Amino acid sequence: MSLGYRIRDVAVEPGLALAPMEGVTDLTFRRLIRSIGGCGLVHTEFIPARNLKLSIRQALDLAMFDADEHPIAIQIYGNDPEVMAEGARIVSDLGADILDLNMGCPSKKVCQRSGGSALMKEPDLSRRIVAAMRAATPLPFTVKMRAGWDPDHRNAPEIARMCEEEGAEGLAVHWRTRTDLYGGVRELDTIRRVKASVSIPVIANGDIVDAVSALQTLEATGADGLMIGRGAMRDPWVFRQIQAALHGRPPVVVDALERKRVLLGYLEAIRPNFRDDRGVLGRFKKIARHFTDGVEGGARLRDGILHSQSLEEAVESVEAFFAEPGEVAVRAS
Ligand SMILES: Cc1cc2nc3c(=O)[nH]c(=O)nc-3n(C[C@H](O)[C@H](O)[C@H](O)COP(=O)(O)O)c2cc1C
Repeated sequence: MSLGYRIRDVAVEPGLALAPMEGVTDLTFRRLIRSIGGCGLVHTEFIPARNLKLSIRQALDLAMFDADEHPIAIQIYGNDPEVMAEGARIVSDLGADILDLNMGCPSKKVCQRSGGSALMKEPDLSRRIVAAMRAATPLPFTVKMRAGWDPDHRNAPEIARMCEEEGAEGLAVHWRTRTDLYGGVRELDTIRRVKASVSIPVIANGDIVDAVSALQTLEATGADGLMIGRGAMRDPWVFRQIQAALHGRPPVVVDALERKRVLLGYLEAIRPNFRDDRGVLGRFKKIARHFTDGVEGGARLRDGILHSQSLEEAVESVEAFFAEPGEVAVRAS
């Protein structure tokens, strides 16, 4: 089976997207995913529209992408329709393929200002934001949301219809509600109801970490595509694994040397992004925590890396763990 969808004229093939992740999906991480392959669309992390409007360097840096990094979606957030419209215009000027609105962020800081998932509690404000962004740019436009605010208010289908009415051209839906944060009981029916409520592509998101969880999610939701976040840190080959399963091909075999090469290559690549080793080590730990999850004996590697006081120690842990050549088993979900 081949999986693909179109956000108006932007073909996402395969229909597997890298989710936006703050402090993760920067240029370096997206390059890593691209070098491995199998991913049809990447997202930047969420960028405050206000900071884009104010030309704040950090926000503009987050919106940077490689000349051959297409298709790419730039995600923005905020709660003021006019500022969001300005953000949309800037994203369009930057040459992104898709403009994406964040309606899913659960963080207090963002929600307190009615941004992110708090928008799901404020349908009128959400409508004004979507409409203002739509009017501001001809760019293909998507919205990423959660299933609702809490398990008693899974209103994603209504919000989805509103987004479609106001001109959104694709929706990514994370099965969790705001109050689930990153826990909660897996519930895919709301995504299925969103799919039944709109005629634009619906992309399912949440806990897709391998071929098994990908196929289950597709079957339960009928979604047009899948979006993967933490699963891509856990196993950057996950996109290729899912593709292999969709096409009935055997799983991709990744040996210890290749895993080591990718992990240490990432460490080298992030060095210039930080002022000092502390910053590099912090970011490396963030990714490595997930990279070691599910790997046979990965707890040992994770502990080694997380307890490292220096980059040298972290590298030593990686070298020691992957010293034995051969295949490294990644547990199924
Ligand atoms: C570290 C981290 C940062 C995230 N940052 C964003 C973000 O900037 N924008 C957004 O829409 N979602 C963000 N998310 C949510 C993910 O895009 C995704 O919806 C969520 O992690 C569920 O998918 P997963 O189970 O595949 O990780 C973030 C998640 C994580 C773990």
